Amino acid sequence: MKYLIANWKMNSLDITDWISKFENNCGEICPKEALQIIVCPNFLQIPFFIEKSAFSKYLSTGSQDVSDQDPGPFTGQVSSKHLSKFSEIHYCIVGHSEQRMLGDTNSTVFQKTQKLINEKISPIVCVGESLEIKKSGDRENFLLKQLESFSNLENFKSSSMIIAYEPIWAIGTGISAEISSIRESIDFIKATLETRNIQSKILYGGSVNAANSKEILAEKNISGLLVGNASLDGEEFAKIAQNF
Ligand code: PGA
Repeated sequence: MKYLIANWKMNSLDITDWISKFENNCGEICPKEALQIIVCPNFLQIPFFIEKSAFSKYLSTGSQDVSDQDPGPFTGQVSSKHLSKFSEIHYCIVGHSEQRMLGDTNSTVFQKTQKLINEKISPIVCVGESLEIKKSGDRENFLLKQLESFSNLENFKSSSMIIAYEPIWAIGTGISAEISSIRESIDFIKATLETRNIQSKILYGGSVNAANSKEILAEKNISGLLVGNASLDGEEFAKIAQNF
């Protein structure tokens, strides 16, 4: 199974228009059993997206984040139990660098992941280093710390957790990481997980677009893409889907 994920972030899109652009331009793409295309709108738009995409042969719905707490006095948060009320939601992003910048630690990301797995929602866990860390040559140690926070996760081995490698310096810049650098990180993540008997799919994210997606997808250990800016346009996103 391969994955193509749209992270719409805090943008409100015209969902009907986006879906029709996507459907009119996707042509013949891989069937859903081979390629999961998951769109993550903001919380308020999730119900609309579920309703409007119900007829689509390809599109599924995901969430951009979840609380690390159970339902209760946590102003402004949405729990995994709330997400699980929507039977259409099978995926949720956690540990995105934009959330880590707002305070999520490795331990918070671990808690969120655990809550999602408890509700049978697959976590898409983002990891990735800053430019400073990359320049300092400490990338592998940094990634190792992010990954090690999961090594004692209950149900982890049987869960369908997905890892998204997103170097922070490539997010939203329009310039994706070089293929050699992506390959080094992805191979390191894969090897680290394998030593712990964990078989997660690994995706790449960071300035992916229709023009560069084919080359990135040609990498053998990459099982898909997490796309921000280029996912806001249904036509561009459909072109990325065609490259799978
Ligand atoms: P980008 O965002 O494609 O705009 O770089 C990716 C992400 O933040 O997940």
